[in-house]
Amino acid sequence: MATTVMGSGFALGEHEVTNEALKRVCDTSDEWIKERTGIATRYYVADGTSTSDLGVRASQAAIADAGLTASDIDYVVFATMTPDYYFPGSGALLQTKLGLGKVPTLDIRQQCTGFIYGLQVADALLRAKAAKRVLLVGAEVHSGFMPWRDHGMVFGTTDARPTAAEYEFNTRYRDRTVLFGDAAGAVVLTSSEGPRGLLDVVLHSDGQYAEKLYVPSGFKFRPYITEEMIKEGRHIPEMDGQRVFRVAVSKLPEVVHEVLDKSGLKLEDISLLLAHQANLRLNEAVQKALGLPDDKVYNNIQKYGNTTAATIPILYDECKKAGRIKPGDLICFLALGAGFHWGAALLRA
Ligand code: ACO
Repeated sequence: MATTVMGSGFALGEHEVTNEALKRVCDTSDEWIKERTGIATRYYVADGTSTSDLGVRASQAAIADAGLTASDIDYVVFATMTPDYYFPGSGALLQTKLGLGKVPTLDIRQQCTGFIYGLQVADALLRAKAAKRVLLVGAEVHSGFMPWRDHGMVFGTTDARPTAAEYEFNTRYRDRTVLFGDAAGAVVLTSSEGPRGLLDVVLHSDGQYAEKLYVPSGFKFRPYITEEMIKEGRHIPEMDGQRVFRVAVSKLPEVVHEVLDKSGLKLEDISLLLAHQANLRLNEAVQKALGLPDDKVYNNIQKYGNTTAATIPILYDECKKAGRIKPGDLICFLALGAGFHWGAALLRA
């Protein structure tokens, strides 16, 4: 028996946000963003849409794609770093909104690597017969941590503009804010007989890098967020972008080789590499280090930016629906992000 994907789907925030639109709130440029990251557009949710709402839309698409209904799902694994609330997690909210019944929901928080961790968890649940059909969701609403006070300025729905002080404050975070978008991706997983399915997963974590990419506010403070902390921007992620970049370029090719060795497969066996979308230059460096040709790699960061736990299920769904994934293909999922957590998984389509 192996864990197979029955269906997939994704959903985007309601507003498309171009690089030009971000110039209204901070000092940046289309040229800088495209050259350093590859990103042309990303999507932000409309006011009131939460991570679980996006998760619901992606899940409905995935459940329909699987030819199932909500009542067929008996477990939810929800990966996000931007939950609706500090607690409870978004899994239970999604369960109720989807009308899933009282099935268990598990929230995991491995950021950009959340989907790959989720695959291993779902695989273990299916093998242990704790579930028959697991809904694995990766969803994020990053626009909640953007420093500007009114998204209408970015959407072009208001004539308001930031004050000089606000513009300067927003610009302090421009290396991060331009990267992220809001989206969700979901897959329905089950156990099947035959040669298809999840072959292997290799995961790693290294907490020594925790403060190279993190949100400094939290429950080690009393209270966990104060007006002072908001003024100092401690509710906005801190990131040592160059350090993340350097570690990723070294760890990502390594873990691809590890998962291939574990499965007794070779680099040439990979049909398609679906890597987390944090930076196009980073993915090109990883592709080069692995020596993979362009037709074995797919990136979509240009359209959606970095959507953290949602990137990999979105890549999968786009490729599946575009006919880029054929029966028998070997798909390699790959990611590294805050934690640091990183890992790779192999799926026989
Ligand atoms: N627009 C214009 N200029 C900018 C912007 C911007 N948006 N951001 C930074 N700059 C400027 C800086 O101020 C700096 O100017 P200076 O030379 O005058 O001081 C210059 O550009 C270079 O800045 P760097 O931060 O050194 O730029 P870098 O080339 O490192 O790119 C980036 C930054 C894109 C963040 C890159 O480091 C990166 O992508 N790192 C990896 C991020 C990542 O993988 N994160 C993990 C996933 S996210 C997760 O887990 C949640």
